[in-house]
Amino acid sequence: MKNRFENKHVVITGGARGIGFETAKQFAQEGAYVSILDMNPESLATAKSALASVSKTIFVYEADITNRSQISDLVDKLETQKPIDVLINNAGIAEETPFLEIEEKNWKKIIDVNLTGYFHISQFVCRYMAKRKQGVVVNMASKNGLDGEFGYAHYNASKGAIIMLTKTMALELAHLNIRVNAVCPGYIQTPMSMEIDSPEFTKNFVDRYIPLNRPGKVEEIAPLFLFLASTESSFMTGQVMIADGGQLAGQKPSI
Ligand code: NAI
Repeated sequence: MKNRFENKHVVITGGARGIGFETAKQFAQEGAYVSILDMNPESLATAKSALASVSKTIFVYEADITNRSQISDLVDKLETQKPIDVLINNAGIAEETPFLEIEEKNWKKIIDVNLTGYFHISQFVCRYMAKRKQGVVVNMASKNGLDGEFGYAHYNASKGAIIMLTKTMALELAHLNIRVNAVCPGYIQTPMSMEIDSPEFTKNFVDRYIPLNRPGKVEEIAPLFLFLASTESSFMTGQVMIADGGQLAGQKPSI
């Protein structure tokens, strides 16, 4: 096993389940000191016990990335414990609603979590990284940030905006030796996608759109975050890495 993150402090949002949980686990397996932030206390408790045998340096915090003052205080606390080397912005929510029926409160909720929440924590963490002239941020975007999907106008807009936030942060922070990249997964089986989609929907979706003929697994996304956070990607910033089973390559055969 590689040990790319020995002695590095990795902060990961939405790390209590799904892709974030697997990513936290893989960072811990490579020696990182990991702080998981998540707003769901039950998932945090489950994650904490599941990770106890993986590493003694995984800590969990109940926090809502949309709460700016709470996040500011928590980042100060985490920095005091150990200066933050890597920020993984992964927390996110989704819901399916036709564009003409999206209510303002639901629009605001998606944008608040999937975009503004990333802004809050990134700003606080990067202010510390800027003083040290060192750091890495990896943002969770989505294939839906590059190519829309019917029924997800607010979600797609939030993910497209994350790609632009990533590029602009990369431009502005490069002289401070802070790299910022994004990951764009396609359809991945997680608690989130399984809550939204029936098995029948998933089968039809895969048959119709995914050339590799299956949904992705969390184990296939986490390594991209580790690569983009490691020195193996030291000349990469402002980039978007796509892992979508070939969906964006083009259309599958029509029969
Ligand atoms: P998930 O629902 O299994 O995990 C998301 C985690 O984020 C949950 O533990 C949740 O409690 C946490 N969270 C939500 N709002 C939060 C907030 N305000 N503050 C702190 N934590 C919060 O979802 P999944 O599928 O693992 O998704 C993770 C990320 O990957 C999301 O940003 C999602 O949009 C993105 N993504 C997922 C894809 C998929 O097919 N599952 C595809 C492309 C991107």
